[in-house]
Amino acid sequence: TRTQDDTNLPSAAKKDMANYLGRLEKQFTLTPQRMRMIVDSFVEVLERGLEKPEQEVPMLPTFVFGWPTGKEKGSYLAVDLGGTNLRVCHVELEGDGKFEVTQTKYRLTEEQKQGDAQDLFDFCAECLGNFVTDHFGDEDGKVELDEPIPVGFTFSYPCLQEKIDHGVLIRWTKGFGAPGAEGKDCAALFRQGLEKYKVPVDLVALINDTTGTLIASSYVDQATRAGIIFGTGCNAAYMEKIGNIPKIKDLGLPEDAQMAINCEWGAFDSTTHEHLPRTSYDIHIDETSNKPGEQAFEKMIAGLYLGEIFRLVMCELIDEGILFLGQETYKVEKHYVFDTAFLSLIESDTTDELLTVTGLFAHFFSLDTTIAERQFMRRLAVLIGTRAARLSACGIAAIVSKQGLLDEAYDPAKTIGIATDGSLYNKYPKFPQRLEEGLVDIFGEKGRSIKTYHAEDGSGVGAAVIAAMTKERKAKGFA
Ligand code: GLC
Repeated sequence: TRTQDDTNLPSAAKKDMANYLGRLEKQFTLTPQRMRMIVDSFVEVLERGLEKPEQEVPMLPTFVFGWPTGKEKGSYLAVDLGGTNLRVCHVELEGDGKFEVTQTKYRLTEEQKQGDAQDLFDFCAECLGNFVTDHFGDEDGKVELDEPIPVGFTFSYPCLQEKIDHGVLIRWTKGFGAPGAEGKDCAALFRQGLEKYKVPVDLVALINDTTGTLIASSYVDQATRAGIIFGTGCNAAYMEKIGNIPKIKDLGLPEDAQMAINCEWGAFDSTTHEHLPRTSYDIHIDETSNKPGEQAFEKMIAGLYLGEIFRLVMCELIDEGILFLGQETYKVEKHYVFDTAFLSLIESDTTDELLTVTGLFAHFFSLDTTIAERQFMRRLAVLIGTRAARLSACGIAAIVSKQGLLDEAYDPAKTIGIATDGSLYNKYPKFPQRLEEGLVDIFGEKGRSIKTYHAEDGSGVGAAVIAAMTKERKAKGFA
């Protein structure tokens, strides 16, 4: 068999593999200098998004005003429609920065992501209805409440908001395509579902997962300066002074007050492709996606795509007759079969023989691998994972620079907290470490003040805290 050693691998193939690796290393490596150039253009793009509507990186006002106090209290529901799952949560905020979460998770099917949008929102409503019956109903499943339960809807796609409880979907991202949602108020579509299933709730806020992460983290930790998701998609939110958002001047809001901005930075460099070092694999992913020409930055970073980038490189080497010689490779030649979790696995393999990698290819793709092939795979995973982390560091650096956090406001004793969530950050080995190394490459020693950490359930707890903040605002007579 070929699993023991690589003696029967033609030496030409080994040489080709080494040549290829050299080429890939050039394509996927980001020097500190290149990173600083990306940061500079990123800052400009963020500023442009605040200035005028309809920019590539849209910098969406969220109508979440300022930081939470940590004293927000009460019982809330959250519905979280992310990229992979639908979650319904009950969140009990205890008013001292503490909370309890109970949740039910549902896997979304491809049909739901691509089928009629109203069906998707009806499904969200139905799941919420079942959850309410299970948690608040009596023995016969009857729910009797003094008043409807406030719900925060975490709908993590770019939405144009004019107020907090509404949001017009600009475009689907993360592979969703359900017709009938783009250009529509998705809070209203969800409300239709809630009426259909007579769910006794009050939809008080539509929020992005990044905004949720920002606020949930700040509820427990005041050092928080940005909320970032590294999951199926990739995006960031931060708090901006209203006076720095020229495009909403007409609303006459107090200039000194603050509002959270959902950057939708995944769209960075999508139109001109001037700034990011895209490879032929990135271009292929874009062109064959359901949304070509969109989310260029996200497609180089997010969990939905990293496995596919890896697979495309592998397929190229199969075509060139360099990998898996003489074997049936059809199983690995299907689009998107190589999950990003496999890259995590490959990178976590600490055995000399890379036995996890052996098992992975044998089990999922019926392929035998030589040690040379496995070493190649590992190196490739490192290249793709490191590039994703270093590009992400550029995004974080842009937000930090934009706010002058390492200039005027810099205090070496203070941490600049970057709250994060998502499988890439939580499960991909070395991702957090590579992010922080990237930040030091960009900023030098000062970059060490920027600390990234995992924020507990931003989408659920954040939705609850935002619902609580909104209720308080309303009680004080604000719209
Ligand atoms: C995509 C969405 C964005 C979301 C991110 C992370 O980029 O457009 O709204 O925050 O994924 O889930």
